[in-house]
Amino acid sequence: MKALVSFVQSNEITQLSEIVKEELEKKNYSVTVTEVIKHKKKNKNKLARLKAGVTDWKPFDLIVLGFPVIGISSSHLMNDYLKQCTNISGKQTAILIGCIGLHGNALKKASSLVSFHGGKVKDSLIVSSFLGLNEKKIEKVKEFIQNI
Ligand SMILES: Cc1cc2nc3c(=O)[nH]c(=O)nc-3n(C[C@H](O)[C@H](O)[C@H](O)COP(=O)(O)O)c2cc1C
Repeated sequence: MKALVSFVQSNEITQLSEIVKEELEKKNYSVTVTEVIKHKKKNKNKLARLKAGVTDWKPFDLIVLGFPVIGISSSHLMNDYLKQCTNISGKQTAILIGCIGLHGNALKKASSLVSFHGGKVKDSLIVSSFLGLNEKKIEKVKEFIQNI
């Protein structure tokens, strides 16, 4: 079984992506972690040009998406990434969101982009970055991955 962990960085999400990887490996997944990075050069059309980030989901059985909330919605970079991904149809995903407290429509936005392309959102978790990560929050993330 193969898993892809695609994340847009924040301190919290970058650290949690490593924990997600370790937990998935405990479940015998072979894991690829990919940070979605924007190219400095602007794209002519509206989508952000990507410098990095695995966009072909074909090889993977599970895709974990991690990103921070920006402006009470999902990070634009994650939205643009999802719009550029291929072979989403039929894929199982799990969504991990970091925020300081106001997540607004972040989950709804990312979920709808996944389901619009035929993917399925198995589960989601919103982690508060208020006062940083602690054992309790890390434990929650581990549980989340164990249960997907
Ligand atoms: C420009 C900007 C906008 C943000 N907007 C929100 C927001 O609307 N709601 C929220 O809960 N967190 C918001 N955040 C916080 C991020 O989601 C992220 O969790 C936070 O920056 C913690 O990141 P850190 O782990 O790198 O400290 C925002 C952060 C930035 C930089």
